[in-house]
Parts: sequence; structure tokens; C-alpha cells
Amino acid sequence: MRIALAGKGGVGKTTIAATLARTLARRGYRVNALDDDPNPNLAVALGLAPEQAARLRRVPRDDVMEERADADGHRDLHLTRPFADVLAEYGERGPDDVGVMMMGCSARSRLTLRSARRRAQRDGRSLGPAPG
Ligand SMILES: Nc1ncnc2c1ncn2[C@@H]1O[C@H](COP(=O)(O)OP(=O)(O)O)[C@@H](O)[C@H]1O
Ligand SMILES: [Mg+2]
Repeated sequence: MRIALAGKGGVGKTTIAATLARTLARRGYRVNALDDDPNPNLAVALGLAPEQAARLRRVPRDDVMEERADADGHRDLHLTRPFADVLAEYGERGPDDVGVMMMGCSARSRLTLRSARRRAQRDGRSLGPAPG
């Protein structure tokens, strides 16, 4: 089962994600939590020790997934490596044994973000901290 939480900032996504992750883990589910926020704080919300949270590196998307088209031409992202390998390389295990990873950008979206950031800078707007 996969659960995604998205929406505007400050509405409680991270709090709900962390609570749900730990509740499900305590009920015996194997839970992996992925933070895809450019300003990530899910690790802290999950209760990882500060040194564990500091060890987390962003997972470079191009290193772990690729876009593939199915027979109907629908394009979708697929892992190119076993999930356990990716977790072992980039993740940490927190309280209740919840796996945590912080997602980075693909090379393509990094380029898009970089040009958006340049435009914003030129127009005197701020887009917040740069994603990994
Ligand atoms: N149910 C709630 N009641 C009151 N405050 C909450 C609730 N859920 C989250 N918060 C607080 O609201 C703020 C934003 O929550 P957060 O989970 O970080 O939102 P998001 O991830 O959507 O930006 C945090 O300070 C958090 O502690
Ligand atoms: Mg959040």
C-alpha cells in the first residue's frame, strides 16, 4: 500500500505522515517514509536522533528510477534498483523501525527549478531554499 500526502504548506502533512507511519509500524506493517519536500523535516517529525537525521542524503532520482512507457504509452516512473538497496544506501531507520529517505530531484527537474529560481531572482521574488 502507498499513501501520498500533498497540499499547501503548513496544513499538517508532515505531522500526519509521521503519525501515520509510526502508528502503522506499531501495528506490524513494514513502513518506509519518503520526504519529497524541498524543505524536508519528516525525519525530525518521525523522531530520528539528530545525528541520524543529519546523515540523510537526498536520493538522486536519476540513480534509482527511470521513466518507462507501458503498452498503452502511459509513462510512469519505475525503480531501477531494489528498494532495500536504495534504503540501505540513502536511508535511516527511526523509532518503531520506520525507514526514512529524503528524495532529491531528477537532472531534468533540477534544470527547470534552476531556471525558475533565476527568473524569480531577476524579478526580486524568493522561492525558498534550493532543493538537493
Ligand atoms: N492537528 C494539529 N493541530 C494543531 N497544530 C498542528 C496540527 N497538525 C500540525 N500542527 C502544527 O502545524 C504546523 C505545520 O504542520 P506540518 O505538519 O509541518 O505541516 P506541513 O507539512 O503541511 O507543512 C506545525 O507547527 C505543527 O506542529
Ligand atoms: Mg511538511
